[in-house]
Amino acid sequence: MSAVRERGGTSAALRLPEVPWPPRRIRAALRRARRSDWDFRDGRIFGSMCTMPLPLAWESVHAFPTANLGNPGLCPGTARLEEEVVAMLLDLFHAPPLTAQGQILSGGTEANLMALWMAREFTGGTEVVLPSSAHFSLTKAARLLGLTPSWVPVDAHGRMQVQGAARRVRRRTAAVVGLAGSTELGAVDPLDELSRLALSRGVPLHVDAAFGGFVLPFRHELGLPGIPFDFSLPGVTSMTVDPHKMGMAPIPTGSLLTRDRELWRCIEVASPYLTDPTSRSLLGTRPSSSVAGCFAAMMSMGRQGYQGMVRRALALTGRLRSGLEALGLPIVTEPTMNIVAARHPNPRGLQNALLERGWDVSAIREPPALRFVVMPHATRVSVDGLLRELAGILRTHPSAARSPRSRGSRGGAASGRGRTGRARLEPEEVRLPRAPPSG
Ligand SMILES: Cc1ncc(COP(=O)(O)O)c(C=O)c1O
Repeated sequence: MSAVRERGGTSAALRLPEVPWPPRRIRAALRRARRSDWDFRDGRIFGSMCTMPLPLAWESVHAFPTANLGNPGLCPGTARLEEEVVAMLLDLFHAPPLTAQGQILSGGTEANLMALWMAREFTGGTEVVLPSSAHFSLTKAARLLGLTPSWVPVDAHGRMQVQGAARRVRRRTAAVVGLAGSTELGAVDPLDELSRLALSRGVPLHVDAAFGGFVLPFRHELGLPGIPFDFSLPGVTSMTVDPHKMGMAPIPTGSLLTRDRELWRCIEVASPYLTDPTSRSLLGTRPSSSVAGCFAAMMSMGRQGYQGMVRRALALTGRLRSGLEALGLPIVTEPTMNIVAARHPNPRGLQNALLERGWDVSAIREPPALRFVVMPHATRVSVDGLLRELAGILRTHPSAARSPRSRGSRGGAASGRGRTGRARLEPEEVRLPRAPPSG
């Protein structure tokens, strides 16, 4: 017997049903669940680094439900797509074509973990030098791999202090990590200097460009000052780049790229029962439908599409920045990409007040500030709406001193309808393809 509990209008199946549910009932339950989720298309999410993928990219994912590159002999078509996607990424980031290699992964966490795993195996080191602004995935990776983190302070612009890094590099250093787009400020570390440091001391330099990877190349192509961050710097040994952030690919799509394919050998283990007798990935079964989604996203966007997307996101970031300053909230540092942070003594209070009104933003602690990520789903209307809401909150509750609440609470979205009245997804869109995939 299935135990079904009605909870806020959403049925929660708590036990495997004895009797199969009819598809209509399943779709209704899924629809109810999805209606309670936030929808990027409402334009009210400024706290996430993900966005609505392109429709064709989403459709492509659903066409590859069984793709598993953990057993690549069974999906040579998907394997070819991965080679093409990786080749495009390596080319975009100026990797040497003859030696470089990469893999499509679930996201930045997996990529950072694999990068440090390779670095540890390659060097035998036991420490990792990291900026204090590093994403928490790197803390997890260090902990899992038994690497001792050696934290380097950042300057007033959130950039790693190179002298501090130089002092921390020692014989037992497995890798130095630099950021091309920090999570909180979008700051880019002085990677040219870090590259020189890494070369002179003979240590790998991993660049976490999970967010910046799909911004920086196009920012440069828009005529803005170029910021060196990729394999064109000779000391960069590996890069994390997440297509599911600014690449317009569906979640989960990350990538790890390396200058030298030898690094992948360092993590190789035997996988005798599979079509490839050696495994060079963290996961066994690799959810690989995202390769198809990433291919569709990159081919649909092209350089011109990404340039347009970055131009628009940067213009909206400028608009938001001016609006924040006009409200008396000074920005923390000049935005390098589509992230802006504005100082306020009680960012948690403001964040919660906005959340109650159906807007998602983030609070950062050092310095205390509200942080906004202006993703491709943001529009002029949504940026202006956010600023109006913020102005109202600052006028009526200047301190916005509310007790911190969980970001899980959805405030204005509780009705289950889109806050902007925009049409929501229909149940058909979660249906698997009727025909089994070929191959
Ligand atoms: C710079 C950076 N690296 C890594 C990650 C982790 O990526 P994911 O959440 O896809 O695992 C993030 C996530 O926001 C990030 O901003």
